[in-house]
Amino acid sequence: MTNEAIRALLEDMTLEEKIGQLIQVPPQVLSSNGVITGPAGEYALSESDRDNMGSVLNVTGAARLRKIQDAQMERQPHHIPMLFMMDVINGFETIFPIPLAQGCSFSPTLVEKGAAAAAAEAAAAGVHVTFSPMVDLVRDSRWGRVMESTGEDPWLNARMGEAMVRGYQGTDLKEKGRIAACVKHFAAYGAAEGGRDYDCVELSERTLREYYLPAYEAAIRAGSRLVMTSFNTIGGVPSTGNRWLMEQVLRREMGFDGVLISDYSAVEEMITHGFAEDTREATRLAMQAGLDMDMVSSGYVGHLAELVRCGEIPEEAVDRAAERVLRLKNDLGLFEKPYKDGSEEGEKQLHLCEAHRKLAREMAAETFVLLKNEGILPLSKKQKTAFIGPYVHCRQLHGSWSFPSDPEHAVPVREGVENAGAEDVCFLPGCHMLDADMPTRFEERLPYDEAKAETWLREAVEAARNAEQVVLCLGEHRDQTGEAGSRTELTLPECQLRLLREVCRVNQNVAVVCFSGRPMEMAEVAQQVKALLMVWMPGSEGGNAVADVLFGDAEPRGRLCMTFPRKAAQLPLYYNHLNTGRPRSTDGYEIFRTGYMGGRLTPAWPFGFGMSYTTFHYSPVTLSADTMTAEEKIVASVELTNTGDKAGTETVQLYLRDVAASAARPVRMLRGVEKVTLQPGQRKTVRFEITEEMLRFHTGDMTYASEPGRFVVHIAPNSGVENPAEFRLVSEGKKDSLNF
Ligand code: BGC
Repeated sequence: MTNEAIRALLEDMTLEEKIGQLIQVPPQVLSSNGVITGPAGEYALSESDRDNMGSVLNVTGAARLRKIQDAQMERQPHHIPMLFMMDVINGFETIFPIPLAQGCSFSPTLVEKGAAAAAAEAAAAGVHVTFSPMVDLVRDSRWGRVMESTGEDPWLNARMGEAMVRGYQGTDLKEKGRIAACVKHFAAYGAAEGGRDYDCVELSERTLREYYLPAYEAAIRAGSRLVMTSFNTIGGVPSTGNRWLMEQVLRREMGFDGVLISDYSAVEEMITHGFAEDTREATRLAMQAGLDMDMVSSGYVGHLAELVRCGEIPEEAVDRAAERVLRLKNDLGLFEKPYKDGSEEGEKQLHLCEAHRKLAREMAAETFVLLKNEGILPLSKKQKTAFIGPYVHCRQLHGSWSFPSDPEHAVPVREGVENAGAEDVCFLPGCHMLDADMPTRFEERLPYDEAKAETWLREAVEAARNAEQVVLCLGEHRDQTGEAGSRTELTLPECQLRLLREVCRVNQNVAVVCFSGRPMEMAEVAQQVKALLMVWMPGSEGGNAVADVLFGDAEPRGRLCMTFPRKAAQLPLYYNHLNTGRPRSTDGYEIFRTGYMGGRLTPAWPFGFGMSYTTFHYSPVTLSADTMTAEEKIVASVELTNTGDKAGTETVQLYLRDVAASAARPVRMLRGVEKVTLQPGQRKTVRFEITEEMLRFHTGDMTYASEPGRFVVHIAPNSGVENPAEFRLVSEGKKDSLNF
């Protein structure tokens, strides 16, 4: 359809029909089989509302969606097709590692491939839009949704967000296997106070712009067709009713022209926030702030028509929003092909196909982060090895947003080790996954059985005593992370810690493989064992990938995209912080310094950290010049040498620091990454270009510009390593007050 045809269609539609395009109904309206991802609430639709409804969330399946589409197009007065949206987060049927793990890959190329595969599977099941990428910057791993983020760095989050958008959307939404992306949660949802889900956000505008907004903007510039508002308030104003945020920042500054949808029932939640008196007022405020679509609340469906009729909302505002939705439907090709790529044949071909499973396996190894290794890894397949722990047999490896996929299709560790052909191995549960009284989001777990627990522990200790080495597969339950999965303590369950202690008493060669959706308190665990490997929630091929890495058929290539605290009490903790006047020292407690009395101030492992099966040496940084004007560039380089006896891939990281500025700058900021594979003894020069643009920030008066002065460059294996060189910017750069 041409734009003129869309406008002609719009002119022919009644007000109620146009509003129908702006409401997204919950799955229970259409089918008992949809997945409900928020409070059920009251949701009443009249017969004519039903005729007009334009989209639904979280219902899937080519055959089912075809039926729904046919029925709805029959009812809708202009036979307008519905939009089917869904949370396709880290895969559809084939599940890839959770986004936090994907962040640890530091590889946008791989992440793009994963998103493309997820899109192809979802499109075959009839889905048109995914509520992804989530690019919320996170600093507090008590928050359950850190598993959906790619971490604490604005630059890395931006690269990952763009990659996902490219992967989902390709260059043409009509292309087979493409779905539209929806970047979320706009804005700063990850900064919830105390890591408590949905909680308030208090940020200065500078912090918002410097850290939180760049990744949303990058995803929008990469073409994300939708944006979702966040549940939180910023400075007391809920995002869904925040006119400044949506009109000024999102539409004007970022140039977003697509569909802006609320989060689940967020319009009505503005009443509970204390921002609107009732649903009618919430609807008016959301509409006035520029929200196009209302997900699930009864605001737009119940009140918008009346607000227009009494002149409080101009009909043109409804027209503009409806036109955006119709344009999206048109760009997806739905007027010609209302099921888009939905087909049972496609589902059969693509879901869990070999190519996607292969990609999931490759990606998983790329996301595993080796935090400690005292020579025990990789393991030999010939040695007598006991695999012990609740994750040995567990298939719940998908993370919390993977409802179309059956965990039965995931490969557990046991199967992976067996597939690898290890010769002398045994497998034991060792303990329950969770302590008897441990809360999770849902009550899915098996009841705690004391007698069984004692038997399991005895058997595990016996097996550990008789083995040459032990691999303990421990971690969080998948339902301890995800939405509403905030935690106060980040330790492993006591039953798992007891197992660890008992096993370590009888065997000195212990490696821990930890499954989790967040950085955990692992420093004390690491002290007791020879190796610690973080594997997050690794997805469908988890067990195979774990075996690949443990036995050295693949190397662990992940680097932390989030700082690991020693204790949850240190949170929020992140590498790109500002210095205080009395900064924390790097070597422990000192009096009258920022930090905690008697406690260690440094993280357990810093952002960017991760070991390989080989070692690398970095030469000091050399710079092509020690001064630079705004028009010039400096090339910073290091010589990287593989000093170990295995081939390996290093993630070389470029960090910059502006030493003195009109508003203090972080101690360092990631500005570039290069993954380099070297053979033993091989050497390579790794170069990064530094441009004036990379030095810009929100200055004292909030212009976006660089300031002349001294800059420090580090090229290092992680954010905790010093490898400095200095240059001066000698002229002022371009000023731009509306950029990020
Ligand atoms: C979540 C969103 C999600 C939506 C739809 C909400 O509860 O915050 O991230 O996309 O539900 O399932």
